[in-house]
Amino acid sequence: MGNYRDFHRRSIEQRDDFWAEQAKLVDWHKPFGKVLDYSRPPFAKWFIGGETNLCHNAIDRHLAARAEQKALVYISTEVDQERSYTFRELHQEVQRVAAMMQSLGVKKGDRVIIYMPMIPEAAFAILACARIGAIHSVVFGGFAAASLAARIDDARPSLMITADGGSRMGKAVLYKSLVDESLRLAKNPPAKVLIYRRGLDPTMPVVAGRDVDWQALAARHAGAQVPCAWLESSEPSYILYTSGTTGQPKGVQRDVGGYAVALASSMKLIYRGEAGETMFTTSDIGWVVGHSYIIYGPLIAGMTTIMYEGVPIRPDAGIWWKIVQEHKASVMFSAPTAIRVLKKQDPAFLKKYDVSSLKHLFLAGEPLDEPTHVWISEALGIPVIDHYWQTETGWPILSAVPGIEKTPIKFGSPSFPVYGYELKLLRESDAAEAAPNEKALVAIVPPLPPGCMTTVWGDDERYVKTYYSTFSKKQVYSTFDWGIRDKDGYYFILGRTDDVINVAGHRLGTREIEEAVSMHPAIAECAVVGVADPLKGQMPLAFAVAKAAVDDRKKLEKEVMDTVDKQLGAIARPRAVHFVTLLPKTRSGKTLRRSIQALAEGRDPGDLTTIEDPAALEQIRNALKEESAPK
Ligand code: PRX
Repeated sequence: MGNYRDFHRRSIEQRDDFWAEQAKLVDWHKPFGKVLDYSRPPFAKWFIGGETNLCHNAIDRHLAARAEQKALVYISTEVDQERSYTFRELHQEVQRVAAMMQSLGVKKGDRVIIYMPMIPEAAFAILACARIGAIHSVVFGGFAAASLAARIDDARPSLMITADGGSRMGKAVLYKSLVDESLRLAKNPPAKVLIYRRGLDPTMPVVAGRDVDWQALAARHAGAQVPCAWLESSEPSYILYTSGTTGQPKGVQRDVGGYAVALASSMKLIYRGEAGETMFTTSDIGWVVGHSYIIYGPLIAGMTTIMYEGVPIRPDAGIWWKIVQEHKASVMFSAPTAIRVLKKQDPAFLKKYDVSSLKHLFLAGEPLDEPTHVWISEALGIPVIDHYWQTETGWPILSAVPGIEKTPIKFGSPSFPVYGYELKLLRESDAAEAAPNEKALVAIVPPLPPGCMTTVWGDDERYVKTYYSTFSKKQVYSTFDWGIRDKDGYYFILGRTDDVINVAGHRLGTREIEEAVSMHPAIAECAVVGVADPLKGQMPLAFAVAKAAVDDRKKLEKEVMDTVDKQLGAIARPRAVHFVTLLPKTRSGKTLRRSIQALAEGRDPGDLTTIEDPAALEQIRNALKEESAPK
């Protein structure tokens, strides 16, 4: 890997020159002066003084060469619809939504929460925010009202945008009524809610004076022209909430210029997407992958992006490959769970369609097990690139970089550190660098490269405390992932060091789930751990102590699960809720989550010298036996 290794080294050793070169991939209204301002570590500001706009780079700058090329193709197997927009049409739609938002009082720097299903209007709203310099915060549609309310209170939006409903497996999911509930719970609800009606909720309630009908407002702004607001490179572009160790989600804040450059560069060097080609990313706009590689990345690259509303196995397990064939997608991006789901279906579906347009399939979001990696690579006959990153970084940390060198793929490994990242594997005990094949913490030597989070929204101190305080003698960014590097320099990610779990690629905090379980009035305390699941990667499992003796365990378990659904959303629902009379704790009162997790996964519970009462662990063992016993 001589070539890529040199490229990576140059990105670290000649950082400013390297990024100044990459910055040529985007349009600057005003050129930047300094490449990096790192005068206040660990806060990094990229492309100082430069002015640009994400929407301009995603749409306007392509109008001269590709106005009539499709920019966005929306395919819904839920409502059986396909709509597509050329760059010219997208330009018009986005300007119209920008004008609509302005008419509702949204100004530069205001926050707009977008809680929408996978429909083109969601993309218009995101790009319209970027156009006028409003800060969008998209919340995944699977989150429940209480989670949404917590985000509203943190971001204090001046506007919320939603739809009457979404659809999952053919069943309507009511978005607007959930938004109503969240606004009742929020301490600082916005004055206006803009609602796109899809006809999925005919009885949708409307709050006079607050709720605004999208279609009626759009009719008044047809043909609107709204110029791009030129933003200084490090002004905020968006906030995206993500889970951590505490129950309170963190608002990951990103900039404008650094993000534009990182995406443009990754589209070219990692994803190998060329202008005029098509990218199909199967994520959701509510996640970071949706932000970077459904919306901004492919459009910045002048590609057609596919927005798919539906599941991978409806109407049958060939649907994604049919989409690839019909739209001649050259780049595809998905998640390991989806591939494991497809692996369980009839493999004939993969052969039924011509997918020869695909150059690569990229997978991320959770560990990719070797058998799945092998299976999909053989089935497609193209390189399947496992790559690793986080909401915080916004673009890959570890990946093969085929735009520089076609390094061989090792199954189960996301290859090498991406250029711009100075990665270290550090021993937890003394921050020393680990030996080859020694499990250690994956850390990044700051400054983080362009595109990464710039701070926690409204809380600089939390940013530093959360991410840079693992070691007292070294200020490094902690990914909170374990990893190893083999003798050839390939990395392997071995799971989180903290209480974050990954359910089907959805990142959740066990603390958040514990708080949700404890919302049930009968529960005194609980512990939630993530346990290995063959399909979803991990599943939450809850152990709860009830306030009084439990007569009907099944009934209470169901009620607790419903409480979690209501507080967080069904994605966080535990696989089971076991009732115990005490939890295993250390003598200082810390719950021994790792021991519980080990028992649940059939492993040794580890060092138990600090346990307060060993009987607690016995209860966990018995509960697990009961769960696995035939019913
Ligand atoms: O634990 C790592 C896991 O997912 C976490 C980040 O999740 P999220 O913020 O939702 O961002 C996903 C962006 C793709 C990481 O800390 N993770 C992500 N990719 C991989 C992975 N674990 C193993 N292999 C990967 N390729």
